[in-house]
Amino acid sequence: MAAGFDQHQAACHGDPMFRLLRPLLFLLDAERAHRLTLAAVGMGMGKTARPDDPMLSTTVAGLTFPNPVGIAAGFDKNAEVPDDMLRLGFGFAEVGTVTPEPQDGNPRPRIFRLREDEAVINRLGFNNEGLEAVRARLAVRHGLPGQVGVNVGANKDSADRIRDYATGVRGMGRWASYITVNISSPNTPGLRALQDRAELTRLVAAVIAARGPLPLPLFVKVAPDLQPEEVADIAEVITGSGIDALIISNTTLSRDGLTSRNADEAGGLSGKPLLERSTAMLRDFRRATGGKLPLIGVGGISSGADAYAKIRAGASLVQLYTGLVYKGPGLINDIKRDLVRLLRRDGFRRVSEAVGVDS
Ligand code: FNR
Repeated sequence: MAAGFDQHQAACHGDPMFRLLRPLLFLLDAERAHRLTLAAVGMGMGKTARPDDPMLSTTVAGLTFPNPVGIAAGFDKNAEVPDDMLRLGFGFAEVGTVTPEPQDGNPRPRIFRLREDEAVINRLGFNNEGLEAVRARLAVRHGLPGQVGVNVGANKDSADRIRDYATGVRGMGRWASYITVNISSPNTPGLRALQDRAELTRLVAAVIAARGPLPLPLFVKVAPDLQPEEVADIAEVITGSGIDALIISNTTLSRDGLTSRNADEAGGLSGKPLLERSTAMLRDFRRATGGKLPLIGVGGISSGADAYAKIRAGASLVQLYTGLVYKGPGLINDIKRDLVRLLRRDGFRRVSEAVGVDS
């Protein structure tokens, strides 16, 4: 059974266009290749997805998603192509990270492919056009169907980082399906300290106050490098606080088991080597929150089986980014097709029935 499934998967993988383009893209510096990809997607390249199987439809934090597979933050930092990502078949798009003021980020090069590991290391440092530019783009698409979340962060030189998050929620709230409070980028020094109990408590109070009466789900995105006591603290602060979901996880600082030449670059590691670590953390949070809080699983997904494992570990939704770099946009449909097959095989009628069954 498993062997047959793998064979089928291998035969169907990817689309011919991407197979042709990948070697050319990989000749370019990773950031250049990314700019080109955004431009191509924005010009309508890539197959428009067919409607999703109804068994993939799901409701989380009051929002309905046609399928549970989203494009993770960082791909479209400035909200240039959210509707194109939905057209390609993603069930939702998260834009950002957006900071109140525009900022350049770190010096280039700052994105590195680790080909042998099917991974990426980035140390971008929240390069983005700032809240005003992103707000203007989202205002233009306002009213279109599809869930588009906005991931917000703090400026590097901010005197008051918590205020930056509140500014993000206030400034983007009307234009976003949900807001993600990103406190887990490893590339803004000190940012991850906002995951500490006392700071997180203040931050959560500030963003919930900033939301006011808006019917706006708020998500918090955490790192995969947390100690058990930190997981317990975060779960306790978040559960019952008014935060609607946790996103697990951002990139890792760990470098376990890498073989590629770029493995020693500084920054956050994403892709295949992050899969086990981030899924284990998801399982820890599922246990710590007792299933009371929706969780969103991110990290290393490059197949339907990976996505399914996160769902069974407790993810109501999943997101990916690095898998696209190596497999191209055909991956989105491959994942959804295989998810349907796996759900049916195990007797589930809808994706929500499989959430957390392994925990
Ligand atoms: C990211 N990621 C990210 N996350 C975030 O919250 N804000 C951001 O601005 C970025 N930027 C970013 C840039 C690049 C080049 C990469 C590869 C990643 C992290 C991303 O959303 C995701 O959490 C991790 O990459 C893990 O998922 P994958 O890539 O293994 O599927």
